[in-house]
Amino acid sequence: MTILVTGGAGFIGANFVLDWLAHGSETVINLDKLTYAGNLQNLASLEGDGRHVFVHGDIGDAALVARLLAEHKVRAVLNFAAESHVDRSIEGPGAFIQTNIVGTFNLLEAVRGYWSALPDAERAAFRFLHVSTDEVYGSLDADAPAFTESHRYEPNSPYSASKAASDHLVRAYHHTYGLPVLTTNCSNNYGPYHFPEKLIPLVIHNALAGKPLPIYGDGQQIRDWLFVTDHCSAIRRVLEAGRLGETYNVGGWNEKANIEVVRTLCAILDELAPRADGQPYARQMTFVKDRPGHDRRYAIDARKLERELDWRPRETFETGIRKTVQWYLNHQDWVRNITSGAYREWVERQYAA
Ligand code: NAD
Ligand code: TYD
Repeated sequence: MTILVTGGAGFIGANFVLDWLAHGSETVINLDKLTYAGNLQNLASLEGDGRHVFVHGDIGDAALVARLLAEHKVRAVLNFAAESHVDRSIEGPGAFIQTNIVGTFNLLEAVRGYWSALPDAERAAFRFLHVSTDEVYGSLDADAPAFTESHRYEPNSPYSASKAASDHLVRAYHHTYGLPVLTTNCSNNYGPYHFPEKLIPLVIHNALAGKPLPIYGDGQQIRDWLFVTDHCSAIRRVLEAGRLGETYNVGGWNEKANIEVVRTLCAILDELAPRADGQPYARQMTFVKDRPGHDRRYAIDARKLERELDWRPRETFETGIRKTVQWYLNHQDWVRNITSGAYREWVERQYAA
């Protein structure tokens, strides 16, 4: 038995591949384009492990996907591949349309061709699991209930709009062709291998480098945080037992204002890696221009997943964030290797003001 993971060299995909192979022996074919966000160092511990087959390629390359599916007799596809950074989608939405929408469409077409020719039993057992985000639901008012799976789609950024479009395509392939799909919509992830363009790793990285910790607007925007291995366990569970055609929200009831997240990171760093001058890291906090169209609040109601599939997160925000800071402190070489030319250029443009 073999699964095909797309985007498995990125943050969540790499965590998933490592987690998958830690829990079983089923081979993973890992198809990744290695954009700026893809990093094979995330998978260095799998070197020489025959259960992991890396393929450098694009989900939009239907011929390649068709060949991989047939050659490896794939029984499930898990689609993590995407352009994932909201700020980059504001600066240049084209790549988001190309990968998240056109790429997902081409992937679905290749999968449909393979799946429809399978013998009955294999066709019935096949799964296409699409990894999506809570951002497709738009922004919540402060006192509104958390997003359930029936919340209407109101995406506000080019990123979330492109993910929403991909969710709709996946849904349509189930409704129209009967493709056995599952969709997960997860809240903000954090943890090891998180690319340092996103809030939590950026703050840790900048703090240690003595740089400003940029807080957009008033810092009161709320995100609902989930430790990445909890997301991985939810995906494994949905793949195993999710009802076909259903969507499952994934979250850990950890709503935090951005400023609170940054203060927490500073406090943990003060304890684990104090500044040489003895001053608190919070001194580096700097309010900067807000993100255009910045969503105010996300919150996930994950009760369907808990009720139907008996899934629960293992980490609280307090345990997960401490593990994350410790991981970054122990992996400074990983961060240094990532902060390549392309990354530096982006950071210089984004925070120029
Ligand atoms: P990431 O940007 O860290 O990684 C994306 C990976 O996809 C990279 O390895 C990249 O090289 C690869 N990729 C990009 N375009 C590709 C293409 N055309 N073909 C093949 N590979 C391609 O993203 P992430 O944070 O790991 O997110 C993974 C998935 O989870 C995305 O679909 C994202 O929308 C979703 N998601 C992310 C979060 C989060 O907080 N990060 C939360 C919920 C859902
Ligand atoms: P981010 O990690 O980019 O995830 P997303 O936009 O998908 O939620 O940002 C998390 C929150 O942190 C979001 O409200 C934007 C904010 N933010 C900052 O305040 N400063 C920063 O430098 C970054 C990257 C994000």
